[in-house]
Amino acid sequence: MRQMNLFAFLWNTGAHVAGWRYPASTDEGQHSLEFFQQVAAIAERGKLDAIFFADSVGFHRTRGKQAFACVDHVKMAPLPLISALAATTKNIGLVATASTSFNHPYALAREFASIDHLSHGRAGWNIVTSTGDNEAHNFGLDQNYGHADRYARATEFVEVVCKLWDSWEDEALLMDKASGRYSNPDRIHGLDHAGTFYKVKGPLNVARPPQGHPVLVQAGSSGTGQAFAARFAEAIFTSHPGIETARTFYADVKRQVMAVGRDPAKVKVLASVQPLVAETEAEARRIAGELNALVHPDLGISMLGGFLGGIDLSKEDPNGPLPDNIPETENARSTRERVMDWAKKENLTIRQIADRIAAERTSRSLIGTPEQVADGLIDWFNGGACDGFIIGAPWLPGGLERFVDGVVPILQKRGVFRTEYEGTTLRENLGLERPANHFVMHPEDHAEPEIW
Ligand SMILES: Cc1cc2nc3c(=O)[nH]c(=O)nc-3n(C[C@H](O)[C@H](O)[C@H](O)COP(=O)(O)O)c2cc1C
Repeated sequence: MRQMNLFAFLWNTGAHVAGWRYPASTDEGQHSLEFFQQVAAIAERGKLDAIFFADSVGFHRTRGKQAFACVDHVKMAPLPLISALAATTKNIGLVATASTSFNHPYALAREFASIDHLSHGRAGWNIVTSTGDNEAHNFGLDQNYGHADRYARATEFVEVVCKLWDSWEDEALLMDKASGRYSNPDRIHGLDHAGTFYKVKGPLNVARPPQGHPVLVQAGSSGTGQAFAARFAEAIFTSHPGIETARTFYADVKRQVMAVGRDPAKVKVLASVQPLVAETEAEARRIAGELNALVHPDLGISMLGGFLGGIDLSKEDPNGPLPDNIPETENARSTRERVMDWAKKENLTIRQIADRIAAERTSRSLIGTPEQVADGLIDWFNGGACDGFIIGAPWLPGGLERFVDGVVPILQKRGVFRTEYEGTTLRENLGLERPANHFVMHPEDHAEPEIW
């Protein structure tokens, strides 16, 4: 039977924006290694494929005094975090977000290669182009790169990173004590890359990662973003409140994967879900209400402004509709369109959309008993909407614990989720092949490393 893949989306202290205020959530801060170790251990106990850390490289945009309520102001750097968690976990994949606009390919290739080694093949990279001007402002720019420019950079960035990972063939590291040969120079390749955005000589100074390369994840939803994902991604994150758009996205993206000559079964589409699990549906709904009541009233409106491309809605009537003149954005274009579409179709006021965004962001919410949540997941999985899910527990660690102890056993009983890890690497657990080495496939690309 086809198996679903499950990632735990570790949104700070929980996917619900007021999760941190929920009395049952941990009092340990988001800077605590012990907190993340505890949460990772719960996810691993549930045999989830991976834990995933989102990221942005700027102070989260909120306006005015509601800033004090915003949990998103803290975001620890994901790479050190997954590196630390590699030491206390054994099987679970470790997926970190990193920007192609505000990093350098050599440095990032090296960090991910190192973590893939340290974790024995459990690293994954969520490739983002960074949508915010607040991020650009930290890297010498007055304004972020335009959408097309960001993806042009991302394309060259990923090409270079993948070649760096391949710059050592698998057999390049000899460590032959008898002959004294540490490595085989015939199997180490320079890049001599000089492109539009980057100039990188190579090779890397870390041997080829155990997985060949870390699993590549992407979440572009615009046309350009989808085309990029179809070319590079091995797992695609997506976010849909309803099954219809999820199905359309799934079919479109799989078609594009096929069109570029890749096997669609080897590209996993994962939909984000916020499950709120309790013994009875009434209890789950009561908790949802309790969480929503903890959202500071201005925070949702500020978040909504962010989702619409960084506009200020504080002067608008919260009981009226969204203004007509919301400017086009070069930032999160597809998110803006989705939210506006939502508001129009359901005739929602600013306050109503804001409340929903505060509770669910733009993903699907499943509130109910373990059976109901499992049914909701299986409906989408069997209904042509996705290959699995990114689980954003509303608060941590309890919200994830309820999912792992309540929902996972049902998915296992129904034969759609593993009872044991299939392999030792993230790639093996996702059923993905180890990629062929670029320089073995294209020896003509070899450039003699400068040092010899
Ligand atoms: C589940 C999910 C997780 C995402 N995580 C991040 C993230 O950590 N950092 C980030 O800058 N963008 C993140 N994004 C945004 C996407 O990378 C992308 O910018 C967005 O979907 C807009 O698509 P586009 O780039 O094609 O316009 C995420 C999107 C989804 C659906």
